[in-house]
Amino acid sequence: MPIDLRPHAIAVGGDAVARDADGRVVFVAGALPGDHVQVEVTEERKAFARADLVAVLAAGPDRVEPGCPHVRVGCGGCGWQHVEHGAQRRLKRGLVTEVLERQGKVVDPVVLDGPDLPPNGARTTLRGLVVGSRFAYRRRRSHDPVTVADCPIAHPLIDELVVEGRFGDATEVTLRASARTGERLVVVTPDASGVRVPAGVEVVGIDELQKGHRAWFHEEVAGRRWRVSATSFFQARPDGADALVAAVRDAVERLAPDAERLVDLCSGVGLFAGTVGAGRRVVAVERHRPAVVDARHNLADLDVRLIRASIGSWRPSAADVVVADPARTGLGKEGVAAVAATGADACVLVSCDPASLGRDAGLLAAAGYRHAGSTVIDLFPHTPHVEVVSGFVRPEGGAGRG
Ligand SMILES: C[S@@+](CC[C@H](N)C(=O)[O-])C[C@H]1O[C@@H](n2cnc3c(N)ncnc32)[C@H](O)[C@@H]1O
Repeated sequence: MPIDLRPHAIAVGGDAVARDADGRVVFVAGALPGDHVQVEVTEERKAFARADLVAVLAAGPDRVEPGCPHVRVGCGGCGWQHVEHGAQRRLKRGLVTEVLERQGKVVDPVVLDGPDLPPNGARTTLRGLVVGSRFAYRRRRSHDPVTVADCPIAHPLIDELVVEGRFGDATEVTLRASARTGERLVVVTPDASGVRVPAGVEVVGIDELQKGHRAWFHEEVAGRRWRVSATSFFQARPDGADALVAAVRDAVERLAPDAERLVDLCSGVGLFAGTVGAGRRVVAVERHRPAVVDARHNLADLDVRLIRASIGSWRPSAADVVVADPARTGLGKEGVAAVAATGADACVLVSCDPASLGRDAGLLAAAGYRHAGSTVIDLFPHTPHVEVVSGFVRPEGGAGRG
């Protein structure tokens, strides 16, 4: 039976938080603080419930009509198309502040907004399913696919692949492009048979990559050219990557102005080692072999020692500052122990999940590092994904010195 709720907050992951008549917390996808909504409870747990939105009885101040027509047919690609652009930024800043306070035990954290990046026409990487040889997203709150005629958040070079690409019998596809060099690469699972894309677009099957075939494209960010192999990570839009580099550079210059030795943990193809690290002695640690090979190519002119290792098996070397950009799981105990063992008194952490930021902030505090400000970089507008650059400093002789 549907119930009426008035959400009062946003949770990590983007659902609205409300309380039902019994005071139990209910998470509602698609609702917003300030809305009055009718929902159907879909999952009941002891401490909370989850519910689907049935109707918006009265819209709150942050709700807008989704700009993308595919949301109406259930596309789950974005998640926050119904949230006004400025409100998206405010809600993300609020989430970061909350996790730093609640999980990181930071008192009155300073959390700033990065530059206002355009919400549409910017994404240079899209991952999707293939249905009837067409690109598809997952349907909202489902594993089922939904094909889309186009994708407004995608860069035009990627959107053309969504519109015109035919991906044969593939099951999954990753569309990659450089906004600045125009190169495009399509990575198809399991193989590239029957794929049709516009002329000049390189196509590679996962089967070929597994046999040792190499394929890459080049992007330009922060004044440098980056080779990015088919499976190497790269930031999802170059203007966002510029903004991340600027935020990391600002934090390093503010917290460790005299740093000569920089450790770049989870260095990928070398984005921070090759920009913020330039002019310093750098050790870069990355576990994905193709990314390390790219980094060797990208950083050949710089003083960078590349180590292919997982953070947990790396023997930390001495550093003045650590830049760490881990996967969604965050640094965790192992990563924070590695940061502390470098002896660095400053750490700049790039987090792509607020929950792991909160936990890492708590672990860093236990190792003697104090939060010294965060900047939210809105790399993924129209989605609840949060990217944040945070500085941490350890006063000389701080607790937990390794
Ligand atoms: C979010 S990406 C960041 C890469 C790079 N900093 C950039 O901005 O392009 C995270 C990177 O960490 C690597 N990685 C994930 N877990 C790791 C671990 N335990 N040890 C070392 N590298 C790891 C991934 O392969 C990936 O390249």
